[in-house]
Amino acid sequence: MSGTIDIETKDGVALLVMNRPEKKNALTDAMYHALADGMAAAEADGAVGAVLLAGAGGNFTTGNDIVDFLAAAKGGAGGRGVGRFLMAQVEGKKPLIAAVEGLAVGVGATTLFQCDLVYAAESASIRTPFVDLGLVPENGSSLLAPRLMGHARAFEMLALGEPFDARRAEAAGIVNRVVPAERLMETALAAARRLAAKPREALLATRAMLRPDPEAVKAVSLAESRAFAERLGSAEARAAFEGFLARKA
Ligand code: COA
Repeated sequence: MSGTIDIETKDGVALLVMNRPEKKNALTDAMYHALADGMAAAEADGAVGAVLLAGAGGNFTTGNDIVDFLAAAKGGAGGRGVGRFLMAQVEGKKPLIAAVEGLAVGVGATTLFQCDLVYAAESASIRTPFVDLGLVPENGSSLLAPRLMGHARAFEMLALGEPFDARRAEAAGIVNRVVPAERLMETALAAARRLAAKPREALLATRAMLRPDPEAVKAVSLAESRAFAERLGSAEARAAFEGFLARKA
């Protein structure tokens, strides 16, 4: 299956780019594993002070590949990559930054709640169609989204499935700054480099203080994953996946 994670480490920043533009960077199991491996390598590399996630071709990511979801719904084993990627986010100690252009759907949206800084282009559209797909929130989002933007807006995104554009996301507090698309990467990279150049111990201690209950986030994320896996096997979810894949046929 197509799709890569392009990884470049430079100036103290590990840049991980989701690259499957023909599918709007929908994530396969192999891509999740590559993201998890890239984040683990960044954690272990003393030269790296920050991790930056981005997408190729004008979109962040449209989330989990629906073909893989359908295979899991039909009783397939399902890959372990997504779980590794989610745990890398929960357990990572280094600042995590996102540069978001275009679509950030599903795990592409919930990953933003795990980030320390999020920069967005005007084109950004952040959405979680979990309920429409017969699914439930994941990646700690049922805890993190209301914490970041309050119950009303979190419910609007996670349950109603309302897309948040860049300005709305900025106003809601889940995006730091909206910049023109042509300045997105330089803005995000500049912030990542500034963080990486700071005294490392003080930076990591400060980050840990600002994320006070990682064990609670991890527990919620794991509980959500169990509920999500159950929902994947539901008739509601299967019908939604088949509907998506049939819509262009
Ligand atoms: N899984 C599998 N394929 C996906 C995908 C996904 N998550 N997201 C996009 N694609 C594919 C489309 O099927 C299409 O493939 P094709 O050209 O072979 O037909 C291609 O990527 C381009 O996407 P398209 O649907 O034509 O773009 P759009 O701008 O009309 O719609 C979305 C964008 C995001 C609204 C739509 O692609 C979508 O709903 N994707 C599913 C998102 C999703 O539910 N993710 C899981 C969340 S838990």
